[in-house]
Amino acid sequence: MKNILVIGATGQIGSELTMKLRGIYGNSHVVAGYIHGAEPKGELLESGPAEVCDVTDGAAVAAVVKKYGIDTIYNLAALLSVVAENKPRLAWKIGIDGLWNILEVARENSCAVFTPSSIGSFGPETPADGTPQDTVQRPRTIYGVSKVTTELLSDWYFRKYGVDTRSVRFPGLISNVTPPGGGTTDYAVDIYYAAVRGERFVCPIAAGTYMDMMYMPDALQACVQLMEADPARLVHRNGFNIASMSFEPSQIYAAIRRHCPDFEMVYEVDALKQSIASSWPNSLDDSCARAEWDWNPTFDLDSMTADMLEKLRKRLG
Ligand code: SER
Repeated sequence: MKNILVIGATGQIGSELTMKLRGIYGNSHVVAGYIHGAEPKGELLESGPAEVCDVTDGAAVAAVVKKYGIDTIYNLAALLSVVAENKPRLAWKIGIDGLWNILEVARENSCAVFTPSSIGSFGPETPADGTPQDTVQRPRTIYGVSKVTTELLSDWYFRKYGVDTRSVRFPGLISNVTPPGGGTTDYAVDIYYAAVRGERFVCPIAAGTYMDMMYMPDALQACVQLMEADPARLVHRNGFNIASMSFEPSQIYAAIRRHCPDFEMVYEVDALKQSIASSWPNSLDDSCARAEWDWNPTFDLDSMTADMLEKLRKRLG
């Protein structure tokens, strides 16, 4: 039986991943790791163990790992791209110093580690369409720099010490449970909230700017499936391109308008977000993930839109 620690369990991915893992491996086998100020609440708190687990404090993480006999760590602690650009030192401290702590704890306690990479690990010199698995990675953001470093350091720990590190390059993640905080792709979440609240949406990304996006259920499935994959099949480790849909603002707007004909959107381009978005690929080639661990997403823009609107309508009334 696996004993899993989710670090960042109250964040956008962690809040849903923790519950999914508890459903698969048993509530008592999945520890929700959080930091002060981001305490778990409700079902997340009540359904299983929770511990303070700050990646910047390696000794404290090691104590949690030992206490619960942890063998798998999902390291989801990170600042997203826009916030990181404004707090670069903190982004490094969490993303790189924190990762070092996690990998050391994993080496000493024989844990597998999943630390997400991102479409943000690519830059303007990367082929933008059908971005290959192995290609140029010269990001222009501190977020991207930390993600490339994450991939390289995780691969190095695997080759050097045999630590079972695996990861994916997440696209923009769209979910209806916990909002993202300060990413370039957040507009694709915010637009649904505006539609359900009957508000006009002010889009910070210019028309025609394509980025890969993914609905959270597929992203969670990727985490579980990759960590369960037969290691003998893995040619790559950190991190796999995964993709399920690519769109630009007018396409998500049109998809929502099919359900909410009165919904309005205007553009007010945010210079920082736009410069980041323009430096990222339009659409990734995920054939290695499909071949090496059977990645096969289920949601496209239309099925995601129907589900998002239904769930948010129920929740927001
Ligand atoms: N969603 C992230 C961001 O926009 C990209 O991985 O920062």
